[in-house]
Amino acid sequence: MNVLVPRAAVESNGQIASKTLVQAGITGLGHRVPDRILTNAELETLVETSDEWIRDRTGIEERRIVAPGENLASLCEAAARSALENAGLSALDLDLIIVATCTPENLFPSTAAQVQNALGARCGAFDLEAACSGFVYALICASQFIATGTMKNILVIGGEVMSRYVDWTDRNTCILFGDGAGAAVVSAVEDGFGIIGFDLGADGSGGELLHCAVRPTETNNAQIFQNGREVYKFAVEQMGATAVRALESCGLSGEDVDLLVPHQANIRIIKSAAKRLKMPMEKVFVNLQKYGNTSAATIPIALSEARQSNRIQSGDTVVLVGFGAGLTWASAVLKWS
Ligand SMILES: CC(C)(COP(=O)(O)OP(=O)(O)OC[C@H]1O[C@@H](n2cnc3c(N)ncnc32)[C@H](O)[C@@H]1OP(=O)(O)O)[C@@H](O)C(=O)NCCC(=O)NCCS
Repeated sequence: MNVLVPRAAVESNGQIASKTLVQAGITGLGHRVPDRILTNAELETLVETSDEWIRDRTGIEERRIVAPGENLASLCEAAARSALENAGLSALDLDLIIVATCTPENLFPSTAAQVQNALGARCGAFDLEAACSGFVYALICASQFIATGTMKNILVIGGEVMSRYVDWTDRNTCILFGDGAGAAVVSAVEDGFGIIGFDLGADGSGGELLHCAVRPTETNNAQIFQNGREVYKFAVEQMGATAVRALESCGLSGEDVDLLVPHQANIRIIKSAAKRLKMPMEKVFVNLQKYGNTSAATIPIALSEARQSNRIQSGDTVVLVGFGAGLTWASAVLKWS
């Protein structure tokens, strides 16, 4: 059972501990995307494609790409500063920083450590890699430290610079991806609010379908490969299924959801997930037309924009659902406080 409700914790010796679990929720949001816009029309000059094909098959109209001087850490730092301000906290209030990314600048040090230094935080920091499901994985990971009362405030960032790893001669992939970062502060919230259910999963047998191999001895060594049709089939099947499992884990169904914030990969995949959940598209947040697929960053960027545009009200039931390379999938149900 994946439900996080306050209850007595059972210690390893079977005795009931005196501590109860604390509800964890999102108390601040922020995001940053690069200023540089790459339109479908510009892509027509790079590969044999058309604005019409890209819009029809994906819903994407443009995406953001880092300019010289920008990098993953700088996007994550800007998103983090905005989330901290939104939460009314300073970097010194943080107990942990987790960056979900599959496009780090370096294998080490971690992006999270770079962000910790840039913010002037004094806490632990690590990266988490679950591709496009990474933000939800990191959110659930953070919520466990809050639930046990061992930490008070955790910064969870989803950030990607996909443009560094895209093969700009491959029309099957280069039209899909973009750069950006979104951040959430995770802290204790009132009982009955915050993260009330989740579902995490992986099927490594599908790893070859979407991968980016690192070959340090070769120049231009890491590029994204994708079997689009197979990933599409997986996404359509798993996106609805993981959301249903997360909702069932807290006794809810699609009809109880006020806002679905899905991974922004393809409008056709999102529509099929909404159908499976019996949700009208008015209850689904979509911004992929502006940013494309920013992998682990899509969900926190969308959440941050949803808050800014008052699409989320106190008491709303919000479902986050992601899927991606691994293959992985992840959903979370939040009662907004
Ligand atoms: C990539 C994707 C948009 C392709 O759409 P599709 O409808 O499946 O298209 P297909 O792959 O069947 O290709 C259809 C045709 O369009 C062509 N095509 C592929 N990319 C093209 C492009 N950018 N412009 C024009 N034509 C293109 C193909 O070569 C193919 O031509 P053919 O029939 O002559 O072989 C779609 O498969 C998809 O979204 N998959 C999931 C991707 C995803 O979400 N990845 C991230 C997961 S986190």
